[in-house]
Amino acid sequence: MDGEASSGPGAFKPPKIEMAQWPLSTWSLLRVMVRNPVATVPPAAYREAHASLQVGRQAMFYPSDPALVEEILVRKHEDFAKSRIDNSLLNPILGNGILTAEGDVWRRQRRLAAPAFRAATLSSHLPVMRSPFEELVERWALNPGPHRIDNAMTAATIAVICRAFFSNFDQGDADRVSGAIARYLRPSSWPITYEALGLPKWTPHPGKLTMEQAAAEARQLVWSFVARRRQGRKVPPDLAQVLMDARDPETGRALSDEELVNTFLTLIAAGHETSANALTWALYCLAAQPELQDALADHVRNVIGDGPVEAPHLEALPDVTQFIEETMRLLPPVPILSRRPLHPCQIGGHSIEQTTLVFIPIYAIHRHEALWSSPESFDPERFAGGYQTPRQRCAFMPFGAGPRICLGASFAMIEMVAGLGTMLAALRFRLHDKTPPEPMHRITLRPRKEVVLGLELRS
Ligand code: HEM
Repeated sequence: MDGEASSGPGAFKPPKIEMAQWPLSTWSLLRVMVRNPVATVPPAAYREAHASLQVGRQAMFYPSDPALVEEILVRKHEDFAKSRIDNSLLNPILGNGILTAEGDVWRRQRRLAAPAFRAATLSSHLPVMRSPFEELVERWALNPGPHRIDNAMTAATIAVICRAFFSNFDQGDADRVSGAIARYLRPSSWPITYEALGLPKWTPHPGKLTMEQAAAEARQLVWSFVARRRQGRKVPPDLAQVLMDARDPETGRALSDEELVNTFLTLIAAGHETSANALTWALYCLAAQPELQDALADHVRNVIGDGPVEAPHLEALPDVTQFIEETMRLLPPVPILSRRPLHPCQIGGHSIEQTTLVFIPIYAIHRHEALWSSPESFDPERFAGGYQTPRQRCAFMPFGAGPRICLGASFAMIEMVAGLGTMLAALRFRLHDKTPPEPMHRITLRPRKEVVLGLELRS
């Protein structure tokens, strides 16, 4: 059965989202969408070049041919903006920040944030990035047995972001921001569904007040951080300071306080949920494949010896990278992107009206029958030799593509390889619950319930 332990290459099939049974009435579509938006991606998106859906007056287009996706996100990116789903869902908490802004406002913020994400800057932060995983391993080693993995990965990844960016952000405040973001996202499939179906913003839904309160709390906490930082005399050498010191090469202007709050919140929100989910799914997939896990752990220990994972080790651990890539293929942390055309346009010979919602179904592309052999089987060997060649660029795109590609992709890969390497070298992960975790789409792809794994010390 999918999601259960297995041995032999490709024998394991990670948990998947049960697709909706078509045809669906509008009411059933609404119900399925609120429960798990990815479940409503039409089956054709897993087999054909694209799929379409018409709900009332709202047309939706799902390109899954990598050439079509590339046309939208790369070659004709100027003809598309983030959809109103992204804007109306994320603006209340993230403001007009890098993830949501458009045009010159976006370009300026991306340009100013880029220095914090240069390879050399990031690798100098590796000790800080792996430290939460080292502390976690120490705690777990003292107390092996069953542990909740999803919470632990969320706590570790928020600590990574905070230590790398906000070295004097109190850990309690960091956990409160993370908690507020989690509370904000929990009911988010309601506004996603309402926006997709074109329902007015004022339509009530469960959790609306919680979302408003959570957004206000997260913004208030980050405002106070910026205010404290502005007053502080000692400047810590962290990435927040790189952002505060950045000057626009064209205008010489720095980021305003409001822009800093938006940028910081965006980095916290975009940068920890995604990696936490990828790592949770990766640990689950390791636990389900004990032989592969032991082989990976032996390799990690051969490469790093008795010391910690250092920057030169990252390149020497391609099998850990491939394991993470295969995990993100089958369980992409961001399973759908959405866009809106700025005017009627032609994509691969298809006419797209300006009112059409374009959903890039990363989840379906990564399981597409024509792009992957045995698409549902877990086989990290697919990525041996790098994922860029000879496959088409947009066949594998956990970090998106084009100018809006994830700013933190290198940060995330360093963090995940170092984090997973650190955990694997010391611990063995075993399946604990009989039922595999169910993937649930809430902007990110997270487990619906807690994920508990059994932990043993490696001798
Ligand atoms: C496994 C981890 C991650 C995954 C899978 C991921 C995925 C993505 C994707 C798919 C997008 C594009 C959204 C779109 O085109 O609509 C994106 C954007 C972004 N991500 Fe990530 N992300 C991850 C980690 C991070 C981290 C660690 C950071 C920062 C520390 C980060 C910061 C951002 C930012 C700022 C954007 C907006 C870029 C722009 O619009 O210019 N992400 N991410």
